[in-house]
Amino acid sequence: MDKLEIEGGVRLSGEVSISGAKNAALPVMAASILSSGENVISNVPQLRDISTMGKLLAHLGMGYHQENGKVILQSKKIEAIEAPYDYVKTMRASVLVLGPLVARTGEARVSLPGGCAIGARPINLHTMGLEKMGARITLSRGYIRAKAKRLKGAMIYFDIPTVTGTENLMMAATLAEGQTILENAACEPEVVDLANALISMGAHIEGAGTSTVKISGVSKLRPLKYKIIPDRIETGTFITAAAITGGEVKIRNCNPGHNEALINKIRETGAEISAKKNTLFVKGPERPSSEDIKTMPYPGFPTDMQAQFMALMAVADGTSVITENIFENRFMHVAELRRMGADIRVEGPTATVKGIKTLKGAQVMATDLRASASLVIAGLAAQGTTVIDRVYHIDRGYQCIEEKLGGLGAKIRRVK
Ligand code: EPZ
Repeated sequence: MDKLEIEGGVRLSGEVSISGAKNAALPVMAASILSSGENVISNVPQLRDISTMGKLLAHLGMGYHQENGKVILQSKKIEAIEAPYDYVKTMRASVLVLGPLVARTGEARVSLPGGCAIGARPINLHTMGLEKMGARITLSRGYIRAKAKRLKGAMIYFDIPTVTGTENLMMAATLAEGQTILENAACEPEVVDLANALISMGAHIEGAGTSTVKISGVSKLRPLKYKIIPDRIETGTFITAAAITGGEVKIRNCNPGHNEALINKIRETGAEISAKKNTLFVKGPERPSSEDIKTMPYPGFPTDMQAQFMALMAVADGTSVITENIFENRFMHVAELRRMGADIRVEGPTATVKGIKTLKGAQVMATDLRASASLVIAGLAAQGTTVIDRVYHIDRGYQCIEEKLGGLGAKIRRVK
C-alpha cells in the first residue's frame, strides 16, 4: 500500500492548476445512460472514482474510454441493469445509476450501500422519490430493485437536501411523463453542473441551484458533449494548504464563486485572498487566527472542507469550535491530528480545537478522502516528517496531489 511522506515547514509558493470536479463528473457520466450514442465529457479528473464509474457503466454494456482528460461513453446499448455490490462497496456514488437506469430501461437493481467511514448515509430519499414517480421499489438480498414502465412526474419533497438524491431524481425525471417538482433540493454547484449537462442533452429543467427544481419530461435525450466545472473542494484544499504554510499561491482554472463560504472564513483567519476570473491569489498569514465554522448544505460551509479547515485551526492562535451538521461521524481525522500534537476535544457534533504553535510530524492513517487531505495539510505545516498510510483514499479524489504540491515547493513523496 502506498504512503505519502511529507517533510513539513516549507512555505508553498507558485502556481497550481485545478482539475475537473469529481462530484460533478460522476453524475454527468451516469447521465450518459439517458442517451443513445457517443457521449464526450471533458475536463474529467483522472481519479480512481472516475474509473470505477467508467467500469460500472461498461458493466452495464456501455463503451468506456478515458484519454487526455476526456471520458467517452458509448450508450447505444444497455445490456445489464444491475450495479453489483463490488462497485457500490468501492464507491457509494455508484448509486447514481439508479435513476437513469429506471428511466431508460424501466428497471434497475442497485446494491444497497452500507454505512461508511463518515456516517450511515442512507438512500431512503432516492427511493422515496422514485416511488412517488410510480416505480415499484423492493429490497431483496441487499439489492434495491426499482421497476416502472415509464416514470411519471411527481411532487417530491426532501426532508433533508441530498446532493446525489437530487441528482438521481433529476436524471430520472428528464425522461418521465409530465412534470416533476423537487422541493428542498440540494443547491450545490455539482447539481447545477449536472442540470446544465442534461439541458445540453435536450432536457427541460428550471431552477437548478435553488431549492425548487422543475423538470418537464421529454421522450428522448441527445448524447452529451460537455465540459465539467472545476473542483471546488480541490480548490479549497489548496487555499487551506497555502494558508497553513504562510505561502503565496496562485490557483488557476478554478471558480472562485463556488468557494465563497470557505474564502470568507480563511480571510478571517488572516489570509489575503483575491480573485480574478478563474484565478485565486492566496497569501497565508504568519499564524492563522482561530475561527468557528458550522458545516451546512451549499452555500454554507462545505462538510467536504471541514477536516482540512480543522488542520488549519490546529495551529491557529486561539480556540475554534467546529460543528459538523451533515454527517454524524465525520471526525475520524481528529485522532490522527492528535497524534501530531493537536489539542482537539470532541463532544457530539462539535470539536473544540485549541490552537498550538506547531504540530509535530508523525505516522498517521488516512480514513477517508477529505480526512486524508487534512493530514496532508497538517503534514505540510508540521515540524519533521509525517508519513500518511492508506493514501488510496486520497487518490479517489485528488489528481496528482504530490506532483501538484511538489510544484509549489512542498517536500512530499510517494513511498510505494
Ligand atoms: C455528496 O454525498 C458528495 N458525494 C459527498 O462528497 C459530500 O460530502 C456530500 O454530498 C455532502 O455535500 C458525491 O457527490 C458523489 P447527501 P451524498 O445525500 O449525496 C442524509 C467526498 O468526499 N441523507 O447530500 O451521499 C445523509 O445521511 C464526498 O467527495 C438521508 O438521510 O450526501 C446526510 O446526513 C463524501 N437520506 C445528508 O442527508 C438520503 O436518502 C446529506 O447527504 C440521502 C441523504
